Amino acid sequence: MADPEEVLARLVGDALGAAFGPDYARADPLIRPSQFADFQANVALSLGKRLHRAPRDVAAELAGQLAATGVLGNVEVSGPGFVNLTLRYDWVAAQATDLLHDPRLGVPLAEPGQKVVVDYSGPNVAKELHVGHLRPTVVGDAIVRVLEFLGYEVIRAAHLGDWGTQFGMLIEHAQDIGEQATYDQLAGGEFTAFYQAARAKFAADHAFADRARRRVVELQAGDARALSLWQLLVGYSMEYLRKLYARLGITLTDADMAPESFYNPMLASVCTELEQAGIAVISDGALCVFPPGFTGRSGKPQPLMLRKSDGGYGYDSTDLAAIRYRLVELGVSRIIYVVGSEQSQHLQMVFAAARMAGWLTDAASAEHAVIGLMTGPGGQRLQTRSGDQIKLISVIDEAVERAEEVIKDRYDEPEERRRIADAVGIGALKYGDLSVARDSSYALDFDRLLGLTGNTGPYLQYATARIRSIFHRAGEDPDQAAGPIVATEGAERALALRLLGFGAAVRGVAASAEPHSLAAFLFDVASSFTTFYEQCPVLQAPEPAIRQSRLALSALTLRVLIAGLGLLGIPVPDRM
Ligand code: ARG
Repeated sequence: MADPEEVLARLVGDALGAAFGPDYARADPLIRPSQFADFQANVALSLGKRLHRAPRDVAAELAGQLAATGVLGNVEVSGPGFVNLTLRYDWVAAQATDLLHDPRLGVPLAEPGQKVVVDYSGPNVAKELHVGHLRPTVVGDAIVRVLEFLGYEVIRAAHLGDWGTQFGMLIEHAQDIGEQATYDQLAGGEFTAFYQAARAKFAADHAFADRARRRVVELQAGDARALSLWQLLVGYSMEYLRKLYARLGITLTDADMAPESFYNPMLASVCTELEQAGIAVISDGALCVFPPGFTGRSGKPQPLMLRKSDGGYGYDSTDLAAIRYRLVELGVSRIIYVVGSEQSQHLQMVFAAARMAGWLTDAASAEHAVIGLMTGPGGQRLQTRSGDQIKLISVIDEAVERAEEVIKDRYDEPEERRRIADAVGIGALKYGDLSVARDSSYALDFDRLLGLTGNTGPYLQYATARIRSIFHRAGEDPDQAAGPIVATEGAERALALRLLGFGAAVRGVAASAEPHSLAAFLFDVASSFTTFYEQCPVLQAPEPAIRQSRLALSALTLRVLIAGLGLLGIPVPDRM
């Protein structure tokens, strides 16, 4: 299947070889989208230096070699040495027809056998997901879906915070109020109240605090009673997470939970290994790794704490054990941490330590897919009136309620209205996250997210519904559309050319762990479709062959939109 940029890169490479000799065939032809043509090759500018010739002359010679193949309709030198490339109408149309018959829509499979861990969502036991969890969850899930579609073996990992000193006070509190009351609160989702009550007691009541501290020691030593109370908390949290992920359409299951406690049995050996290798040293009674180049606020070298002076293990220890396990035991070639920007230094230190230890080699990569902050509509901090974090579930509920408000006049049947409001509200919320660069900060503004025009989830969902309704009116099935696609009008050609870029868009997401580029691509597709539909009558086309071609082009657009939205995890209602 022909991705235009790839085809052009090959053509220009061959032409460079023919014009300047085989050494030059491998130069990057620097194919870029162009304002004046479909694409432009910028290679003549850099080649000019290498050949000691004026770039415009180099460009002219290259253009001469490229002229009039079956692919290119027009080749033109412009500016200081750009070569503008315009594809032939019939080539574009033939490629689009091929795409229509390709079940993978031009998305190639990656080489088999590559394992990738995606560490995302970052939930914690006995705490509710708050609005800050939305982006690492939604972005991570889109990355996972794309990698899987490309054929990577993906290991989802929600690094569930289920271990640590706070569990002493939580268990003790559960014990105090009894199992029934614990169940009532936690199964009802009142994690925050439960957590805050435990913390308040811990702060105010010395005897309780002492019991809580003893309880942690017991828990970490494997005491049966402590473990069973802890298990209770973990179980309720899993139940809650399951429901929430299902509501949001997130593909994480119980089996994808990579709880911190899972790494417990590995912590001692991580310490020994790093200590014996001379990488970890005792500092103030604690076992630390000081990766070079990282300093704290005071400018002093910043450690990763492997084992605290009281013998306890913490967040740093677990992350080191996790990265060793993933690289050494699972043998993955890539780990993507979809985590907030505030943990940047922590993760870079973990990567540096893993490299010092020899776990992370050139054969693998560990990367932080940075997630920026979500703010209120005016850029202010998102918090409740009392200063607490806003629960994720209340944001989801609000999105769906507002969506219902937007669409309510169109549906009489309450069941259908609710179903579509759900898809529109959740789709709008998720798409909002995916339509901006993941590392930028971004304002939660429901009015904008729910807009039926502009780069929004509802606009894209609506584009699919509109195409379905064309087929409905035609009495035809989009799955049966066979083409051939012919491009006679500029708007047809532009849409077809756009659709040929799907494979590149999907691969781009995998390479950069950045789903936002796919969202931008889908928005361009929907916009090109709108222009096409305004300019080219489909059902009233002048000739049967053109009608058939335009229906096929519409069907292809529908398929690309549905596949693309699916990869982003955006629900697509069949009517809107
Ligand atoms: N649970 C953590 C938090 O709430 C996020 C975990 C991120 N992943 C990791 N491997 N550290 O901050």
